[in-house]
Amino acid sequence: MIKALRLLLLPALLAAATGAALAQNPIKVGEFASLTGKEAAFGQSSHKGTLLAIEELNATGGALGRQFELITEDNQSKQGESATIVKKLISRDQVVALLGEVASGRSLEAAPIAQNYKIPMISPSSTNPRVTEMGSYIFRVCFIDPFQGTAMAKFAQKSLHLKKVALLTSVSSPYSVGLAKYFKETFAAIGGEITIEQKYSEGDKDFKAQLTAIKAAGVDGIFVPGYYTEAALISKQARELELTFPIFGGDGWEAPQLIEIGGKAMKGTYYSTHYSPENSSPAVQNFVKKFRARFAGETPDAMAALGYDSAMVLADAIKRAGTTEGPKLRTAIAATKGYDGVTGKTTIDSHRNATKAAVVITVKDGAFKFVESITP
Ligand code: PHE
Repeated sequence: MIKALRLLLLPALLAAATGAALAQNPIKVGEFASLTGKEAAFGQSSHKGTLLAIEELNATGGALGRQFELITEDNQSKQGESATIVKKLISRDQVVALLGEVASGRSLEAAPIAQNYKIPMISPSSTNPRVTEMGSYIFRVCFIDPFQGTAMAKFAQKSLHLKKVALLTSVSSPYSVGLAKYFKETFAAIGGEITIEQKYSEGDKDFKAQLTAIKAAGVDGIFVPGYYTEAALISKQARELELTFPIFGGDGWEAPQLIEIGGKAMKGTYYSTHYSPENSSPAVQNFVKKFRARFAGETPDAMAALGYDSAMVLADAIKRAGTTEGPKLRTAIAATKGYDGVTGKTTIDSHRNATKAAVVITVKDGAFKFVESITP
């Protein structure tokens, strides 16, 4: 009799105990990032911004009476790793949402898994349109490349006065291929000429053959929609070949390594990105101050700002949803309207994207300098 009672009571006791524990359990948020490897600058910056947001949220009470726990995994900038890591974050760590990635290629790897498990994923800064097309649980808090490509095509024509441009695209990066396409479409539509198109792959180090062909084509500028390592090497080798005209790209250029690797060759280069720490708005200046205090005087870049905003948009949605349950949280993120962050107001549209201004940056006296802001 006693034994039977015990058997009956045990599950009830266990359920009560786990229920109480669950109420105090932190809200687990999974972050996947390139903390090491080729694009470590992206992952490190984005992570610092995300971490600052989570710490601030926890200091002001978290959400739903619970604290946040950020579980960060490194994909080493390697292809294939993001899928493995995201599966682990969902199945083993039971995260309620995912933040990541910076690079579009790695967001594209993770998105089908998040979609399949109905775990909302917010990319802070992947700009390729296909990322959010992967499914109803996939969001981003940044602009997309059709806008960025158009913005840079107009900038090339109106501000740099370029008529004949060469395209140098990384064929192994979905981001690069997409941005090249959108730039080309607009530049041609507004009367510019893409005189020559050359290709490379991620990790390439020698661009002399492509640059020699570009030199022979007689252009007045090169658009390089790639990541910072190659963009810096390309600029350096172009200057060695005495190509003195503007070389310009998109947000993938943003990293201190661009100047470290490229050195003097970066003079007269331009790129578009999501934010400038020189922006005098109180939201930006307040963020810059908090970030510097937290990370040894470091000035936050675009990935840091977007990482911060992605975590804040997620927390805002969790509070509005009143739950961390996947489908309800998804609906709350989709309903985000005018969330006021560091990178401007985030409104999630019907394609789960955000619309924001771009800024153009140049390199002057070995430092990044704000040139102009381009509104959508
Ligand atoms: N937009 C780039 C991509 O989609 C990543 C990136 C974002 C790089 C912001 C720098 C700054 O791959």
